[in-house]
Amino acid sequence: MNDRNPAVITTVPAAAVIEEIRDEIEDVRTYYFRFEDPELERTFAVRSGQFVMCTVFGSGEFAVSLPWSPEADRRHLSVRSVGKVTGALAGLVVGDKIGIRGPFGNGFPFEDIKGKSIIYVAGGIGLIPLRSSIVHVLRHRAEFGRLILLYGARAPKDLMYRETIEGWRGTAGFETYVTIDRPEPGWTGETGFVHTLIEKAKVPVENTVAFVCGPPIMFNAVIQELSGRGLRDDCIISTLERHMKCGLGKCQHCAIGRTLVCTDGPVYTYKQIKTLGEQI
Ligand SMILES: Cc1cc2nc3c(=O)[nH]c(=O)nc-3n(C[C@H](O)[C@H](O)[C@H](O)COP(=O)(O)OP(=O)(O)OC[C@H]3O[C@@H](n4cnc5c(N)ncnc54)[C@H](O)[C@@H]3O)c2cc1C
Ligand code: FES
Repeated sequence: MNDRNPAVITTVPAAAVIEEIRDEIEDVRTYYFRFEDPELERTFAVRSGQFVMCTVFGSGEFAVSLPWSPEADRRHLSVRSVGKVTGALAGLVVGDKIGIRGPFGNGFPFEDIKGKSIIYVAGGIGLIPLRSSIVHVLRHRAEFGRLILLYGARAPKDLMYRETIEGWRGTAGFETYVTIDRPEPGWTGETGFVHTLIEKAKVPVENTVAFVCGPPIMFNAVIQELSGRGLRDDCIISTLERHMKCGLGKCQHCAIGRTLVCTDGPVYTYKQIKTLGEQI
């Protein structure tokens, strides 16, 4: 997963206008935007799995994944308000401007996994970086084997992209399992932690890759379950998060040993993550 990205489109923040804001879950909003510059709006190209740096003018900049599929979606970012800059973003309204720099990073290795089954395992807002990949593979359905989404959150109110997931549920050839941690009035779906869905879905291991994103405790439980079934470490793909500054491989802010998450990542195989000695 160290496919460097030669095609950085913009290295200074390009102004983009917020066109629509949707509340997703508590503290997480989705911001739809368009670039002010019509030429950039037409040409801005990304690969699934990459990220951009988002500027909130007067506050700062932060790294954010691309949930949109390059070929099928309006451009948008889904952001959890956790601190100084993301908090300032949460104060913006439709018509305000943000800055976008990028895209950065390697992206998901679609060419290497053609013909394979793909298991997506996401916890909470871990679905954000995987969303773009799911939309992409559904567009190219014939190129892959079984496609399965296992998605878990603490409670129904913590499930991201509910409308989109409902759409996926009805998609032929895409198996969607959603669970919440414990039973709750009105919830008729699965309950229990997301790794328990691996057994329920009878996920394949042969000719299969897993994309796993979520909080550390969930990630470790899922890895244990998948590895226990014989899925190789180089067939498990995830994204790492590090505080980013330049996004360009210059400042070393995102270094883990010899790897720079902003240029070598953020997508790594579990085999690579293990050699980094990285604790997820
Ligand atoms: C590749 C990538 C993709 C991402 N995608 C998304 C996404 O799609 N959606 C999303 O909501 N978030 C995403 N993030 C996380 C997002 O970048 C951070 O939440 C954001 O930087 C927080 O900025 P802030 O200024 O609001 O928070 P800050 O004020 O910087 O603080 C946020 C929290 O982080 C802690 N913190 C601050 N600095 C450091 C540091 N140097 N090391 C460790 N902890 C620190 C603070 O104590 C606080 O708890 C992504 C991050 C990366 C690297
Ligand atoms: S963020 Fe500067 S080197 Fe990665």
